[in-house]
Amino acid sequence: MEFLRYFPDADYETIKKIYDERNTWHERDSVVEFRKAVESVNDIKTASFDFSSETVRIGDSSEINKEQSARLYTALKKMMPWRKGPFNIFGIDIDAEWQSNRKWDRLLPEMPDLKDKLICDIGCNNGYYMFRMMEHKPAFILGIDPMIKYYYSFELLKSLTNINNIDMQLFGVEHLHYFKNSFNVIFLMGIIYHHRSPFELLQKVRESLKKGGTLVIETQGIPGDDPVALFPEGRYAKVPGTYFIPTVKCLENFLKRAGFKDVKTFCTHKMSSVEQRVTDWMIYESYSDFISKDNPDLTVEGYPAPIRIYTRCEK
Ligand SMILES: C[S@@+](CC[C@H](N)C(=O)[O-])C[C@H]1O[C@@H](n2cnc3c(N)ncnc32)[C@H](O)[C@@H]1O
Repeated sequence: MEFLRYFPDADYETIKKIYDERNTWHERDSVVEFRKAVESVNDIKTASFDFSSETVRIGDSSEINKEQSARLYTALKKMMPWRKGPFNIFGIDIDAEWQSNRKWDRLLPEMPDLKDKLICDIGCNNGYYMFRMMEHKPAFILGIDPMIKYYYSFELLKSLTNINNIDMQLFGVEHLHYFKNSFNVIFLMGIIYHHRSPFELLQKVRESLKKGGTLVIETQGIPGDDPVALFPEGRYAKVPGTYFIPTVKCLENFLKRAGFKDVKTFCTHKMSSVEQRVTDWMIYESYSDFISKDNPDLTVEGYPAPIRIYTRCEK
């Protein structure tokens, strides 16, 4: 609970309860192999990393011997599928499903000042964006994501470094309001369409921002000028658990009515199978399988194909 020292207004008791409950997840049988993978490379450390370019690089191949490199490769492979990347870890290239560097590049023109700031990355996955944020010299980054495999992927990467102002916890966005007035900047990317009540979720997120803090939100959306959201009958682009997929105007209305000001959408683009695709590190179906073979403007279910929307707003 070391991370709580950064957040004096947080509800310590409630967060401790959730923390203790989530800690029991580490005892599950299914988690043993991930924990062992992290432990198997605990002799490998480096102070050499580069978070400034599209590939997050940790370590260099010259710093470890062949046996260590083979062990590291096995540990990294255990964490498949790698959804976000790319990474280069002691010379091992991880070509993840998503070219996440593209999303990061689109954020840069409107990136809030991160220097010396307290930041939350909601749904941080393996931490790709958290590492990219490190380049901006924040005070502390808390990543939250309740998927235990991603937790161990992040722990493995972090364990190779000497960085200590970055942490990940198994919390969900639904817990964020317990961190009242805590963050200067929150990233909420690829999240709201997976939640049944996007509006309530945005209200909770707002509660956890400090006054004057910034929310950067990125989401799947649909094209169109009306303030509406698509609510699919079942799956959307084959993905279960997808609820409201907004137009730009609808997203902006969500944000304004949740109390945010200076709402500004700064980028929209069509999704593509260049950005999200099958690789050696993610061998399951990907974007091209989710889109109609006859009409790239439709999903396999016949809904409008997704666009991505990038919006920034303030508390
Ligand atoms: C579509 S991915 C987006 C990942 C990353 N933020 C990005 O923009 O590339 C959704 C992420 O949210 C995580 N997630 C699932 N349930 C969540 C919850 N209740 N709260 C926060 N994150 C959650 C998933 O594990 C996954 O890493």
